[in-house]
Amino acid sequence: MAAILIHADAAAAISATGLRLLNAIKTKPDVVLGLATGRTMEPVYADLIERVQSGGQSFSGVRSFNLDEYIGLSGKHQQSYRQTMNRLLFSHIDIPLAQTYLPIGDTDDPAQEALDYEKRIELAGGIDLQLLGIGSNGHIGFNEPSASLGSRTRIKRLTASTIKANSGFFGSNDAVPSHAITMGIATIMDARKILLVATGEGKAEAVAKALEGPVSTSCPASALQYHPGVSVILDQEAAVELKLRDYYEEIHPNGRELYFRS
Ligand code: F6R
Repeated sequence: MAAILIHADAAAAISATGLRLLNAIKTKPDVVLGLATGRTMEPVYADLIERVQSGGQSFSGVRSFNLDEYIGLSGKHQQSYRQTMNRLLFSHIDIPLAQTYLPIGDTDDPAQEALDYEKRIELAGGIDLQLLGIGSNGHIGFNEPSASLGSRTRIKRLTASTIKANSGFFGSNDAVPSHAITMGIATIMDARKILLVATGEGKAEAVAKALEGPVSTSCPASALQYHPGVSVILDQEAAVELKLRDYYEEIHPNGRELYFRS
């Protein structure tokens, strides 16, 4: 399995994530990033912006593809993921907006848009590093439980639990769009490297199922067990239900990635 990196608290986990993103851009200035939204990512992007502002790293060669977008929301809607990304990250760094991609939510033909989005990723040469959060039901992107592990970008209906989890952004459950265009599990698995971040006890059960449970559509994130290049960044709370937690902490004290050398 992946490197499971357990940090002392959420602040340390977030900071480690920001540092990894920055290093990915330093190592490959034309890196293709896969990005996510959600509450977990808000401090991650704030950390990255702070690092960029103090270090002067340019994003001018970076391209990014977000995991998902709500169907029916225009890119101008305050709660669209396009606006969210502009507000939380893109407007603070020098990435040209034309190099930032999200599925178009208010298209007349979402099924075609999903196919086109896959093509755009392919034309960009694929995703080098995909950032992921995890839903408390084990979803990644909007691949809800039962999503095919071989799925590609397509339309998905949100579950009641995801609608409830996201209702805070919209004011009520009813205002949350019912469908989204999301990268599929197979699309995500094509990324060369994956960084999954989870903080807080609300994620502990999903994290344990994803990392130590059987690979199953009932926990879509469990498909990541088949990916050879996943790093999972956790705080203590999100790690609390892991059976092999002591072992992971022994291998990676304080979330440090140490390599064995003879
Ligand atoms: C959104 C996305 C989702 C979130 C997940 C966790 O682009 O990919 O899978 O990562 O719902 O959301 P938070 O961080 O709000 O708990």
